[in-house]
Amino acid sequence: MAPKPAKHPAWFECVECGYQSAKYFGRCPQCQEWNTMVEGAKADGAEEAGEPGPSARPQPLAEVDAASAPRLLTGLAEFDRVLGGGVVAHSVILIGGEPGVGKSTLLLEVSAALARQGHSVLYYSGEESAQQIKMRADRLGAAAAGISLLASGPLEDLKRLVREARPAFLIVDSIQTLPSRRTAPLGGSVASLRTVTAEIIELAKGSGVTVFLIGHITKEWQLAGPKSLEHMVDAVLYFQGETQADLRLLRAEKNRFGPLNEVGIFQMTEKGLASVSDPTQVLIQDRQSRSPGTAIFPAMSGLRPLLTEVQALVADSPFAGNPRRIAIGFDSYRLSMLISIIEKKLRLPFYKSDVFLNVTGGMVIRETAADLAVCQALVSSYRGVVPPANSVVLGEVGLTGEIRPVSFLEMRVKEAIRQGFSTILLPAASGPMANYKGISVISIDNIRGLLEQLKA
Ligand SMILES: Nc1ncnc2c1ncn2[C@@H]1O[C@H](COP(=O)(O)OP(=O)(O)OP(=O)(O)O)[C@@H](O)[C@H]1O
Ligand SMILES: [Mg+2]
Repeated sequence: MAPKPAKHPAWFECVECGYQSAKYFGRCPQCQEWNTMVEGAKADGAEEAGEPGPSARPQPLAEVDAASAPRLLTGLAEFDRVLGGGVVAHSVILIGGEPGVGKSTLLLEVSAALARQGHSVLYYSGEESAQQIKMRADRLGAAAAGISLLASGPLEDLKRLVREARPAFLIVDSIQTLPSRRTAPLGGSVASLRTVTAEIIELAKGSGVTVFLIGHITKEWQLAGPKSLEHMVDAVLYFQGETQADLRLLRAEKNRFGPLNEVGIFQMTEKGLASVSDPTQVLIQDRQSRSPGTAIFPAMSGLRPLLTEVQALVADSPFAGNPRRIAIGFDSYRLSMLISIIEKKLRLPFYKSDVFLNVTGGMVIRETAADLAVCQALVSSYRGVVPPANSVVLGEVGLTGEIRPVSFLEMRVKEAIRQGFSTILLPAASGPMANYKGISVISIDNIRGLLEQLKA
């Protein structure tokens, strides 16, 4: 427990979610976790902030020069794509990922790509020595001139360096290992982490440096530290590893300047991260011999169609009346809703079955257009029937069982055909499709139509 700071009154804070209170709780009232309240000081410095600052004047919105914060392409195509078409100058981007997934590798490659374009980069590492970073840079071919290193040292030194040297980019590897003299009495507490982050953001907005922060994440896929860290920065990207073919996915969890559903796909090689230009080839293997409980869904990653595989396992439940519903890569509430629609409209007694749903390759589907694919995987597993050969399926399922049209239909269908799929199950409500030679289009208007396709 951090020692009680002399000047401040006692203040308690949850290390999981950052909830603050003058009172101690055994269980955090906000995130409901036990034993997570620690004593610290209120982080927002409210006491010092009493005096009014220099008089601020509003600026007419129409006169704000948006072009003064241009986007800059780093040169790493998949990285730029996830950011929404390059980095916005002076922004602060947090990149989270599990230990060893390749965060330092990614940011060192980004640094090198930026340095090669003539931008100065300051790389702060609180975890590795300058020699270790140089060794990695040599292996990646990223030892570009224009990158300066600062291995360890407090926030105050880093701020001074940035003000003196004025680098265009600052990499902080990692935010959890950047100490601050001012918050030293708070130890590695949430309050300290938040103060350090706030100061870095202030530095970015004040000195014009663009910042990438690396953050550790916990097993539950939370950034280690307060959730409020995510609210403070401009963008939060998660870097995720898949054992399959050494794939690495980069996904935007929050982005003030770009879309959320973009996914960047890399492959980890000895020479570093290689962009994967045709991810479907890696994500979907064995497309010919499908098994019961599968469906191929043409998802959209931004404006790029990306074929993904949805798998379901529907098995007799040992927990009568309380079966399990577990979804990985898909919203579990939506899964429950789709199961209820299947039970009601198709009269299949799913209440007796455990249901596991998985989107393969570590992909996450947030589109309602995947509903019909999820239903196909569920019903196909339940009945033990293989879905139509070489098929993709798309459509939103309404509460009355009707199949609703989806966005970007043409683009999705074209990609499926390009990848060699020959049967397309799609919403009848989408209207007539262009005639594709040798392609069988099956229009479905109601979820009952799915049973036709999944006959034993
Ligand atoms: N010689 C090598 N050949 C191929 N891959 C390597 C080699 N050395 C390291 N790697 C890859 O790099 C990964 C580690 O990368 P990196 O250090 O960038 O991860 P990190 O996310 O920064 O880890 P940490 O959380 O420890 O800081 C390893 O898991 C491995 O996949
Ligand atoms: Mg690292």
